Amino acid sequence: MDIRGVPVLVTGGSKRIGAACVAALANSKASVIVHYGSSKKEAEALSAQIRHSGGEAATVQANLESAEEASALMQQAGGFFGPVQILVNSAAIFKPGLFADTSLTQWHEHLAVNLTAPFLLMQEFVRQLPDRTLGKIINIIDQRITRPRPGHIAYNSAKSALWTLTQVAAQEMAPWIQVNAIAPGPILPAPDQDGDGFAAVANATPLARSGSPEDITKALIFLIEQEYITGEIIRVDGGEHLI
Ligand SMILES: NC(=O)c1ccc[n+]([C@@H]2O[C@H](COP(=O)([O-])OP(=O)(O)OC[C@H]3O[C@@H](n4cnc5c(N)ncnc54)[C@H](OP(=O)(O)O)[C@@H]3O)[C@@H](O)[C@H]2O)c1
Repeated sequence: MDIRGVPVLVTGGSKRIGAACVAALANSKASVIVHYGSSKKEAEALSAQIRHSGGEAATVQANLESAEEASALMQQAGGFFGPVQILVNSAAIFKPGLFADTSLTQWHEHLAVNLTAPFLLMQEFVRQLPDRTLGKIINIIDQRITRPRPGHIAYNSAKSALWTLTQVAAQEMAPWIQVNAIAPGPILPAPDQDGDGFAAVANATPLARSGSPEDITKALIFLIEQEYITGEIIRVDGGEHLI
């Protein structure tokens, strides 16, 4: 797919991996809509930078814990450059919690942002896409779905369900829409994560280091360019899923 001028929505696109996805897509001349929750300043700066370099970009805010706001987001995004043809679900929350300690509130917030919001966005994506138009959905999941470990029960459960959703949707949305996933391993430590702990996890992978957001964007561009892959997952994790 030639993505020049193609409208793309990246959720959680203001910072970190989401921002790298936005930058890579803008670099390929897509028209990028940068969704943000609270990081308005970063989203607007990124969008302005793209426009300054001759690209097309806009920003849109929505709290993805709210089903109403998640459902409305796609239509808002389509108001900038026309119907969204590529959806990248990157926004997520990642908070630690053992099974015994996880409150219903923590459970609900992980499911809302990491599973229900992508589900609603995917539904609205299909509804707004004109008939017989190619579309692509890329869900950013997590290597942890392959090797679940203790400590993030709500996060892991939501991401595992997102992988199931990806595979079912790939079949139901075919043949015009391809639905794929990327499963990062240790790319960036979470803002509240202990740096030494992150380094230890990264060093324990077969490739013995952390990855970079650009490792994720290479997989993203590959999946967007591919015309015969759907329901697939690419693990960009230094081999972490093998250990
Ligand atoms: N970092 C890693 O090494 C790693 C590893 C495995 C998987 N992943 C996955 O890769 C993706 C990107 O990772 P990341 O570390 O870059 O993500 P992140 O920084 O933890 O979060 C990305 C964005 O999600 C948005 N978000 C969270 N809650 C929201 C809400 N209620 N409403 C709207 N937006 C909300 C935030 O936007 P605002 O700042 O605008 O509020 C945030 O900037 C995620 O899906 C993550 O699970 C990352």
